[in-house]
Amino acid sequence: MFYSFAALSFASLVAANTYSLESNIVGQQFLSSFSFNTFADPTHGRVNYVDQPTAQAQNLTFASGNTFIMRADFTSTLNPSGPGRNSVRIQSNAQVENGVIAWDIRHMPEGCGTWPSAWTVAQVWPGEGEIDVIEGANNVGPNQSTLHTAPGCTMPSGLAMSGHPLGTNCDAVATGNVGCGTSLTPTSTAFNANGGGVYAMERTPDFIKMWFWARNDPSIPSDLASGANAVNTAAWPAPYALFPSTNCNINQFFGPHNIIFDLTLCGDWAGSTYPSSGCPGTCVDFVNNNPAGFVNAFWDIASLRIFQ
Ligand SMILES: *[C@@H]1O[C@H](CO)[C@@H](O)[C@H](O)[C@H]1NC(C)=O
Ligand SMILES: *[C@@H]1O[C@H](CO)[C@@H](O)[C@H](O)[C@H]1NC(C)=O
Repeated sequence: MFYSFAALSFASLVAANTYSLESNIVGQQFLSSFSFNTFADPTHGRVNYVDQPTAQAQNLTFASGNTFIMRADFTSTLNPSGPGRNSVRIQSNAQVENGVIAWDIRHMPEGCGTWPSAWTVAQVWPGEGEIDVIEGANNVGPNQSTLHTAPGCTMPSGLAMSGHPLGTNCDAVATGNVGCGTSLTPTSTAFNANGGGVYAMERTPDFIKMWFWARNDPSIPSDLASGANAVNTAAWPAPYALFPSTNCNINQFFGPHNIIFDLTLCGDWAGSTYPSSGCPGTCVDFVNNNPAGFVNAFWDIASLRIFQ
């Protein structure tokens, strides 16, 4: 009896790092797996999120084969007193909790005024948390990965991770929504010039971890690279971002999350950092008057895989 109990708990320890592929969203499947958000940007961007028929009619989303593109309008000059630049924000219909998500991305939006992000968030905010995996502003690196929570979740200093820690208090309100974050090492190759790469995030009751491998990085784990039906994160290298439960009860601060891709312009982050970004004039004037500045403001997503 004691024997089988020991064997069972050993099995569950091993299984805790092994996850099975639950969905592999590619191309057209983004249109059925995600909904288009059309509300006013909560981060106050100079952006107008359009619905799916409008996005498709204006080719702001485009799905074909293993390609899913979403972008900002790059042809219109805006009326300064009218709505912001058309763009797209999509939210997964399914919700995720513990597990692994892998984002295989060929290109992320770039350019002055842009603030792209790929993230997960609860319906109850900040009470059930937000996990920002990929986020950059005004095309100025390094990009960041950040948690935003209710009061009471903090990160210890001196964690073993390859990224650079940016703050220890995850409380969204107390930090002016800065949260606790990690930046990728500034030495990493420019994402788009390299054909993008794969981000992965593991969430368990004990930690949230994130990894990044640039396209063709030979150190990408073979289970991720081969598109296997299961991944074992215990065999993966050290993450660039580590958020342990030491001073943050992850089950308490993070609830069921939807997965989001968006591209906003200016607003709380790209707007406030615009003056120091090297970009011309003011952010809102740039967005209004320079459609050609948004030609490269697009996501090109190869796949989104969810393992549980
Ligand atoms: C729509 O966008 C896709 C992806 O950028 C592009 O390949 C295609 O030519 C565009 N279609 C039109 C009609 O502009
Ligand atoms: C950071 O994000 C910008 C887009 O804001 C992108 O152009 C750049 O390549 C990214 N850098 C890295 C190192 O991923």
